[in-house]
Amino acid sequence: ASGDRVEIVEVGPRDGLQNEARLIPTADKIALVDLLSRAGFQRIEVTSFVSAKWVPQMADAAEVMAGITRTPGVHYAALTPNLKGYQAARAARADEVSIFAAASEGFSRANLNCSIAESLDRFAPLAEAARADGIPLRGYVSVVTDCPFDGPTPPAQVARVVAQMRDLGCHEISLGETIGHGTPDAIRAMLEAVLAELPADRLAGHYHDTRGRALENIEASLDLGLRTFDAAVGGLGGCPYAPGAAGNVATESVALRLAELGFESGLDASILTEAAAFARRLRTPRGQDV
Ligand code: HMG
Ligand code: MG
Repeated sequence: ASGDRVEIVEVGPRDGLQNEARLIPTADKIALVDLLSRAGFQRIEVTSFVSAKWVPQMADAAEVMAGITRTPGVHYAALTPNLKGYQAARAARADEVSIFAAASEGFSRANLNCSIAESLDRFAPLAEAARADGIPLRGYVSVVTDCPFDGPTPPAQVARVVAQMRDLGCHEISLGETIGHGTPDAIRAMLEAVLAELPADRLAGHYHDTRGRALENIEASLDLGLRTFDAAVGGLGGCPYAPGAAGNVATESVALRLAELGFESGLDASILTEAAAFARRLRTPRGQDV
């Protein structure tokens, strides 16, 4: 493993901030992305083009995309739940778009207001348009070990949805351990099923750190060949439709652990420290700084 290249995909501006109750000023979101642009990421997930009724925090998606200063070599990604979101993301010049499905019916209903099958039907024209436009399509599958509504997720169910997302044309599928209840054993069992459908170099681990196990889950995934991991600077975030899902694994912690294990992420630790401090200030209500 020594010297192996790993990619950390920064998802803090999207997955981190979407869960904040206080509406964060657009200028602060732009400043966070611009700071992150200097840290050495290949991909930063900037925002999501979703219904503002569902996620008010992301209502300024187009303004954020228009306001950032793009660094050559960095790909700026956006989450898109349907064709309407895709068209807005394309107009905002997103370099990559992500569709997101769930491995459980309960979570699909809570997050997308439809069944898994309906969500895949809805993604099909979006995937078609992205292919025609030459915009890379990423896929997320949520609740890969545990669902807050339906309980433990059978690995075969994750593998089935991964295969369906692959068939829609996703170049990579990010496996969302949405509520941070997964153990390394559960992650391994899930990955063994998923790897029968898609090789490790087309998978990413997206692990929330609610119970402090995300780093162990990343290590289990490294053992099975995964080399791409999503993280949020400062440990921001969660998911508004996953009760108790506070906290994506912190980018700076992942970078440090990967370096200790002999992997090369290409990230600048001092800029990450600066961005983490900035991110933490954003989540502290004004006047309550600690
Ligand atoms: P719906 O209410 O069933 O759909 O929501 P609708 O088509 O009836 O739309 C409702 C309203 O939203 C309409 O407006 C639409 O025009 C509008 P109205 O006519 O009432 O004024 N609308 C939109 N506006 C802007 N952009 C759009 C868009 N689409 C519709 N793209 C819908 C269905 C999918 C839209 C809704 O459920 C939704 O937006 N869900 C997104 C939820 C979300 O963002 N969740 C968090 C991200 S996923 C996540 O965090 C997990 C992940 O991190 C991985 C992991 O950790 O597991 C990725
Ligand atoms: Mg997430």
